[in-house]
Amino acid sequence: MQMLSLDLGERSYPIFFGAELLKDKSILAPYLGNEGVLIVTNETVAPLYLQDVRDLLDGHQVDELILPDGERYKTLDTLNLIFNTLLEKGRTRGCMLIALGGGVIGDMTGFAAACYQRGVDFIQIPTTLLAQVDSSVGGKTAVNHRLGKNMIGAFHQPKAVIIDVDTLKTLPDREFRSGLAEVIKYGLIVDKNFFSWLEENIDALLARQNDSLLYAIECSCRLKAQIVSVDEKEGGVRAILNFGHTFGHAIETHQKYGEWLHGEAIAVGMLMAAKMSAKMNWLPAEDVERISRLLKIVGLPVDPPPDLSPQQFLNHMVVDKKARLGIIRLVLLKAIGQAVISADYEPDLLRAIVTPG
Ligand code: NAD
Ligand code: GLY
Repeated sequence: MQMLSLDLGERSYPIFFGAELLKDKSILAPYLGNEGVLIVTNETVAPLYLQDVRDLLDGHQVDELILPDGERYKTLDTLNLIFNTLLEKGRTRGCMLIALGGGVIGDMTGFAAACYQRGVDFIQIPTTLLAQVDSSVGGKTAVNHRLGKNMIGAFHQPKAVIIDVDTLKTLPDREFRSGLAEVIKYGLIVDKNFFSWLEENIDALLARQNDSLLYAIECSCRLKAQIVSVDEKEGGVRAILNFGHTFGHAIETHQKYGEWLHGEAIAVGMLMAAKMSAKMNWLPAEDVERISRLLKIVGLPVDPPPDLSPQQFLNHMVVDKKARLGIIRLVLLKAIGQAVISADYEPDLLRAIVTPG
């Protein structure tokens, strides 16, 4: 087992990663009080890993809540099911929530933990690649609103993140490839050597070899932890973690969080942001080609859905949380491994990027 630390003063926490961690009782034990544990998971993950987590909690009062599976259930209504369970069981402020699942479960459980009795502890046990390299780390929690993704939420850091790479063995291929989009993101925004490593090792990653996966997870979590530790609440640099997301969220909102997976939308968004960076004479055209090539090898889409008009695209982008007074702030690339946040671009340039052809 390996460990990284996300340093945030009294809110610091460890990120454990390795194989067979769901068989190791010693990891979870130090975080459990005696006021009860609620495991929140979903109907897909429960048959795979709920028993393993139950076994780690021998001797504790354990409740479990199995939610329906899917982004469309990432709502205030579903969140209320978590509160109902906690209240019906009479859980007090010293209880612990455990999020067992992908980013949807992690974001909702974290938000429930942020709100319940004004804040209780929670632990992330992410089981998708996307959740292991991104959503479980950094304390962003949220649910969606009809008018925008992740619009209702809070910053609430977990007490620990436990990443068992073995859980990726059961992850459907499309979900796995979608998670790789976020891994590629880290190389693009802050670490050109990691991007080159990904280009060289993409076959091993696609074959889900544990050593390559663990290296990619370690790099991703380390890079994210470094950024979050200097800007927990996204006052500045943390916004670069949203590279590709302003475009990607527009695609997801347009589709009402249905057809495309998050990483697929982000893949298209990253390439659009790279093309915009090239149009601003920052990123060389050959680097745009490198990015496009890697995304295609992974099997991710590189073009937006054809039914999303340029005006709809821009309308959805204005709802982005980085927008200020109607001005869309974009994360762009000065180079591979060097992201910047900018609103200093010609509006016509952005319109050209969201216009097909
Ligand atoms: P997800 O949670 O919907 O999981 C994808 C699918 O995989 C689901 O059907 C799930 O049940 C299934 N699954 C999970 N683990 C499995 C396993 N080990 N084996 C088999 N099936 C498994 O999607 P996701 O991609 O993990 O997360 C996307 C969500 O994360 C979005 O809501 C997005 O907004 C959010 N997100 C949050 C942050 C953050 O910082 N909080 C960052 C990125 C994304
Ligand atoms: N996924 C973006 C962030 O955590 O800030």
